[in-house]
Amino acid sequence: MARYVRIPGSIALITLANPPVNALSAAVRRGITETLSRAIADPEVKAVVLCGENGNFCGGADIKEFAGPMSGPGLVPMIDAIEAGEKPVVAAIEGVALGGGLELALGCHYRIAHCKARVGLPEVTLGLLPAAGGTQRLPRLIGLSAALDLITTGRHVSAQEALQLGIVDRLTEGDTLGVAVEFAQSIAGQPLGSRRLSTRTPACPADLDSFLQGALVQVRRRARGAMAPEACVRAVGAAATLPYSQGMQREQELMASLFRSAQARALQYCFFSQRLVGRWSTPSGARWDSAEPRPIRRAAVIGLGTMGRGIAVSLLQAGIAVVAVETDEQQLEAGRRAVTALLERRAQGRGSEGPLRFTTDLQQLRQVELVIEAVFEDLAVKKQVFRQLSAVCPADTLLCTNTSGLDVEQLAACTRSPELVVGTHFFGPAHVMKLLEVVYGPRSSPVAVATAMHLGKRLGKVSVAVGNCPGFVGNRMLKPYLEQAHFLLEEGAAPEQVDQALEEFGFAMGVFRVADLSGLDVGWRVRKEAGLTGPGVAPGESPRRRQGRRYSPLPDLLCEQGRLGQKTGRGWYLYEGPGAREARPDPWTHSFLQQYRQQHGLQPRAVPQQEVLERCLYALINEGFRVLEDGIATGPEDIDIIYVFGYGWPRHRGGPMFHAGAVGLATVLDRLEHYHHAHPDIPNLQPSALLRRLVASGNPPIQKWREVIRRVRSQL
Ligand code: NAI
Repeated sequence: MARYVRIPGSIALITLANPPVNALSAAVRRGITETLSRAIADPEVKAVVLCGENGNFCGGADIKEFAGPMSGPGLVPMIDAIEAGEKPVVAAIEGVALGGGLELALGCHYRIAHCKARVGLPEVTLGLLPAAGGTQRLPRLIGLSAALDLITTGRHVSAQEALQLGIVDRLTEGDTLGVAVEFAQSIAGQPLGSRRLSTRTPACPADLDSFLQGALVQVRRRARGAMAPEACVRAVGAAATLPYSQGMQREQELMASLFRSAQARALQYCFFSQRLVGRWSTPSGARWDSAEPRPIRRAAVIGLGTMGRGIAVSLLQAGIAVVAVETDEQQLEAGRRAVTALLERRAQGRGSEGPLRFTTDLQQLRQVELVIEAVFEDLAVKKQVFRQLSAVCPADTLLCTNTSGLDVEQLAACTRSPELVVGTHFFGPAHVMKLLEVVYGPRSSPVAVATAMHLGKRLGKVSVAVGNCPGFVGNRMLKPYLEQAHFLLEEGAAPEQVDQALEEFGFAMGVFRVADLSGLDVGWRVRKEAGLTGPGVAPGESPRRRQGRRYSPLPDLLCEQGRLGQKTGRGWYLYEGPGAREARPDPWTHSFLQQYRQQHGLQPRAVPQQEVLERCLYALINEGFRVLEDGIATGPEDIDIIYVFGYGWPRHRGGPMFHAGAVGLATVLDRLEHYHHAHPDIPNLQPSALLRRLVASGNPPIQKWREVIRRVRSQL
């Protein structure tokens, strides 16, 4: 797990060997401890070089070990021993030095990095803090302010930035090990003094107290209830205010408060789930490890509206050539301006985009390998586009739709190769948001799914394969959530009250602020198309009932008043003017709701915050169980990744399905039964069969749900 070689010139070379990233497992820690003692004991050895096998220094702790009791030598005494030793130790960093890997390197006396290496302390993203001295040594090396930035965000830093910050002493473009060995020879015998970071005093801003106070306020605002960032600030603060040994003690105490926390469990679940969704499979037997993705070099985007623009930019930045298509010259020009502006804003020294062409002529698509359609959300328009694409593009072109929820199979049926049609559901802004729902229809071929999944990865996204049903996974589950929010307004709540409850839960924005931001007309159009509002409604039908169930016309009424959200300067909230972003509660909305309740004989009541959360979230979660029952998502992890990456679900709460497990499935079931009893005309509140089954199976841990799902599905 750590190899030892003596090389000429009195250098001992210790190589971490635990593929793929040389994680610091108990065996590796033991290996380092033993080989280091050997190097120290050997009078011939004048300096040590520490490196990692297979082009990676060290990816950090072995997260799998977190679940059980720790065994083997501790990381802290091991790193302390390296630092305290009389022989200089040089870290030769290739690939990554992350988390415990960087802490190990900080215990070394010198750090030499390859120019393509990356370093960072990402523990905060797992609900933890760097607890092997990272919070105490890094501020002593690069100053308080820079260390706080790295430790509270967990961001990875390029080798160049690491050099600028002073994290590494030297960069090399060539043979890192060779350079490190030569360097070690050159400094052998020199006094180590302040190379031992624990002996240094960290550079601090003049007004330390107010700086730390400001940092706390800032991370609290950003963290939305996550505890780890705040603990990171406190630990780094200890580096500035306490002697090293006491700072280390503080670091340990703070880590202890995080280590077994529900948040850390949720964040680590997200970490593993993100990997799990890459190992996708479909009910027809297509699998990630057997379906070969096709290489994509040339693509087309149809429709350069809100979404098409971002999709084009995303493709270009992955080095894919793009033909961008619009209906007429005017729209094309608007699209061209938007795409160019986005590219310029994001370029900043990159400039490795694929070639880009704009056209109104579909005949230009004779050579593309993949098309992403992002025209209006209108089935007839989309069908027409798919017919045209099928006629123009080469027979093996993959045809993708960015529909938010229309039937992918109906579009496939318009083409000559339905097996090459899939949904690629991006989230706005498409060049920023990390999620891609890849929707397979009953006829989508393994290669089509594999290619779309792989494309997502190439675009830097997290791709999740899901089945075809109205709204797929994300938007299907969102519908009952939105509905509950509207019903709560009818019953007496105010938009800002509902939003506040959701924001305190951890969402970046409450449901009404999001609706104002995306535009209320989007849903209005969908509801008109579905015959829920507008001329399609049967005369005489009650405004508060549709298709045999409770319906709230509130958002439709707002749209009829021209209140479409931020774009018109008013929606659920009031804005400074059209396009302004700061939402203010609007007395108009309050009196409108009051009148509405009066008109419909609804007695307003004070809605407790707990009810807001339970009704909105449990309705969404209940639909999640139905999604699993129907086999639209393979496992709860798929749903949770979709919600964390696409819908702003607070990551430290793991995702809706994880949250249900954390609250207790029996509690969720009980509350749903309670609310369904109180509102029998809302079918979404009726607990799903799978939820009942899971509770009856004794509330198994989320990792075991798949077995119960299989049993439930085999009985359907
Ligand atoms: P949009 O209305 O902003 O843009 C649609 C564009 O398509 C317009 O520029 C229009 O000129 C163009 N277009 C229409 N017919 C065309 C044709 N036959 N050929 C070429 N171009 C044509 O719409 P938006 O918001 O970009 O939505 C596009 C699709 O993406 C829809 O299916 C929508 O449901 C979906 N979507 C939208 C999201 C959003 O946040 N806006 C999120 C995820 C998906």
